[in-house]
Amino acid sequence: MMSDEEDYLKEGIIDDIEDMNAIIDQFIEYLRHHNSSEMVLEDINTIVEDVVSVEQKHQRTIQLETEASLPTVLLNTVALKRVLTNMIENAIRYSDGAISVSTGFSKQHKSVLIKVQDRGPGIPESELETVFEPFKQGDQARGSEGSGLGLAIIKRIVTTHGGTVRLRNRKQGGLSAEVLLPVMRSSQS
Ligand SMILES: Nc1ncnc2c1ncn2[C@@H]1O[C@H](COP(=O)(O)OP(=O)(O)OP(=O)(O)O)[C@@H](O)[C@H]1O
Ligand SMILES: [Mg+2]
Repeated sequence: MMSDEEDYLKEGIIDDIEDMNAIIDQFIEYLRHHNSSEMVLEDINTIVEDVVSVEQKHQRTIQLETEASLPTVLLNTVALKRVLTNMIENAIRYSDGAISVSTGFSKQHKSVLIKVQDRGPGIPESELETVFEPFKQGDQARGSEGSGLGLAIIKRIVTTHGGTVRLRNRKQGGLSAEVLLPVMRSSQS
């Protein structure tokens, strides 16, 4: 309905609406309860490979290193893909250069381990816990895209899977986001 003279406004309006949509989508995702009846025994590597292939759309190098023959994990596939997507999109948004995604097995925790690592600025030690709170954003993220819900969603989903998530600044620089998902006794190899 806008006249041609107002054309220059359109792009800005569309961008703002897209940003608002993304925030609303994140909020709905945060409130969503994933049903435990949707839990199935899944191969983590397949899920990680699927998400990494979707995230190739950002034209960033994502190095993938999967450990062969991991035990299966009882999980909600849609929810776990959300966890991985949020982890990878943070690495893309807050760093430049290559990102590395890897899977492995922690004997100590009897859990499958998923790591997303970047070479960005990392997170100040004093904020490593608080960034998991809903709507908490770091200084560099304020006023830009995003709602500060990504990590809160990750934490909620991982916790409902009986797992843990932690963020760690890497010695060589950058952030390591690590998720541990426990393996059921019957499916352990
Ligand atoms: N890989 C990373 N490197 C550096 N800082 C990060 C990284 N991931 C998250 N952060 C910091 O943690 C804050 C919270 O992250 P979170 O994913 O919860 O929210 P967001 O990315 O700001 O918004 P949303 O994920 O809802 O779009 C970010 O604002 C950013 O400051
Ligand atoms: Mg985020």
